[in-house]
Amino acid sequence: MAKGSLAVIGGGVIGLSVARRAALDGWVVHVHRSDETGSSWVAGGMLAPHSEGWPGEERLLRLGLASLRLWHSGFLDGLPDSVVTARESLVVAVDRADAADLKTVGEWLAAQGHPVEPTTAAREIEPLLAQGIRHGFRAETELAVDNRAMVDALAGHCERLGVRWAPPVAELTDTEADAVVIANGIDAPSLWPGLPIRPVKGEVLRLRWRRGCMPVPQRVIRARVHGRQVYLVPRHDGVVVGATQYEHGRDTAPAVTGVRELLDDACAVMPALGEYEFAECAAGLRPMTPDGLPLVGRLDERTLIAGGHGRNGFLLAPWTAEAILGELNGVPLPEADVVGGAVRVR
Ligand code: GLY
Repeated sequence: MAKGSLAVIGGGVIGLSVARRAALDGWVVHVHRSDETGSSWVAGGMLAPHSEGWPGEERLLRLGLASLRLWHSGFLDGLPDSVVTARESLVVAVDRADAADLKTVGEWLAAQGHPVEPTTAAREIEPLLAQGIRHGFRAETELAVDNRAMVDALAGHCERLGVRWAPPVAELTDTEADAVVIANGIDAPSLWPGLPIRPVKGEVLRLRWRRGCMPVPQRVIRARVHGRQVYLVPRHDGVVVGATQYEHGRDTAPAVTGVRELLDDACAVMPALGEYEFAECAAGLRPMTPDGLPLVGRLDERTLIAGGHGRNGFLLAPWTAEAILGELNGVPLPEADVVGGAVRVR
């Protein structure tokens, strides 16, 4: 049954997830998107609430775990299995201080009711790790997806459901739809001034497997390397290495220092990567909020926001789609509360 018309502004993972969910629910949906690539195109695609967690981020952990459950229970329906590139993460530490950090995270996760099993034999789990790396823990429910394949697959599914494409809008009044969802990442404040969303830059590298190289790891490796963090996310043809994190306006030029640190850290964790082809280097702009929690909910009678997902756009896409559908249908998700006009988890 048709519910009304919905304009989704933004064609990244959040916009497409919302559009697909609304189309499945009977809404007539247009997605307003540009030809430019955004943060969904650069992302590593880790779905990693445990291994990205840190004390103080309890609400983000709960939200991420709720969304990870949706990834495991229906969000991938209608998409090819090949979008999933890993079904586990291994979090490791390089030096003693890194191991102490890992212990802090493990104790925090246990206190939140999500204990992880520490190991001092990380190389027995992942033999490609550098000699000397011993400490780690597994996050067995975490996934990784190929971000670009995922966006393409979501767009294809949207098309099969009748979602239409439209050009970007400069003003919300440029669309006549009954309801509008703002989901255009760092550009959201240009449509709704005052939204507390700012760009946070991250360099990300793509290394491609070559004949004769050691194989691509089968799981996400997340490492602390002398106080810095690096992650290695498998792809069918190589590894995504990420990511730096710093504020530099809208600059998307990969900087030498960031790239060098990522390469050094990646090879310190998995020396065999030194033989891979250096295939690509890019920088994305994460849409970050002051407290790191996304803004998902109603801004006025016609307008909703699905933005500010920071480091967790892919992870939080399913929860965001459900939350927006709840708002559109007048049945907000029970775990949501309203902060500053937009929905947040309790
Ligand atoms: N979620 C990983 C990143 O933002 O770098």
